[in-house]
Amino acid sequence: MNEAKLAIRDLGKRFPTRHGEFTALADVCFDVAAGEFVALVGASGCGKSTLLRLIGGLESPSSGQVLLDDSPVRGPGRDRAMVFQDYSLYPWLTVAQNVAFSRGLRANRSRDRAPSAERSRLLLELMGLERVADAYPHTLSGGMRQRVAIARALQNEPDVLLMDEPFGALDAQTREVMHELILHVLASERRTIVFVTHDVEEAVYLADRIIVLAPGPGRVDSIWPTDLPPALARSLELKQSAAFLRLAGRIRARIRETSGLQSDLAALRRLTGIKPPEPDSASRTS
Ligand SMILES: Nc1ncnc2c1ncn2[C@@H]1O[C@H](COP(=O)(O)OP(=O)(O)OP(=O)(O)O)[C@@H](O)[C@H]1O
Ligand SMILES: [Mg+2]
Repeated sequence: MNEAKLAIRDLGKRFPTRHGEFTALADVCFDVAAGEFVALVGASGCGKSTLLRLIGGLESPSSGQVLLDDSPVRGPGRDRAMVFQDYSLYPWLTVAQNVAFSRGLRANRSRDRAPSAERSRLLLELMGLERVADAYPHTLSGGMRQRVAIARALQNEPDVLLMDEPFGALDAQTREVMHELILHVLASERRTIVFVTHDVEEAVYLADRIIVLAPGPGRVDSIWPTDLPPALARSLELKQSAAFLRLAGRIRARIRETSGLQSDLAALRRLTGIKPPEPDSASRTS
């Protein structure tokens, strides 16, 4: 018996292209425990979104498998909900209707209705959206729209929440509010979360473990436990602590090492003829 909520087993994904097959992911293995918050980070194009889509059942594996409670994922299901960067709300529905929409999909089971309607209301309250319940998405700010998307994802009480750069399009202040909100949600509704981000600080602040993926082909490079206090005991001061900054710095350095960025920069310098400043002269002028 496997105790993991999610088990990623030798997962591979190849895409057909005009130049033959492209291997986006190869031999990816890791487990996610029930109630755990795992962040996926890594260089652009290393396969983070592809991995999330495989877990969500929106893509099928070329090799290996994704196990959810020991059963292979064969497609999307109500046990998993996804939140994307671009909000993906229905523009013709109000905030309240967007949140309640997935409930409508199964409303033929009438006994579901009352508790779900109550849940929609509670989620609107939890997300601070009561005031805009009857507004349409285009009249909301980006942060509000993303709150609607999260409320909608939580409506069906999914076991697993899959989030692909959910706060990537938000400004720094709004993102900070969203971090507090997500920690708040975690404390009241413990879910298993797999969260993709480019923002290493965000990953360290929110996650229990961080998985660094490396490109060419996409694979697990390293796994970093964060060992931070429980969700609601985290505070913004934590981000200034030496342990936090050291961990974020080490993970960023690791991503840089795996990214091929150094050779890209070297090629750019050859192209432009501009040499980087000597470390010594840079420190003398500052
Ligand atoms: N449908 C597809 N057909 C062909 N190639 C694809 C397809 N989807 C993804 N890829 C390729 O797979 C690789 C991984 O893509 P993916 O979107 O998963 O990366 P990512 O890590 O999410 O990148 P980013 O950080 O920029 O969002 C990329 O090289 C991409 O071009
Ligand atoms: Mg992506």
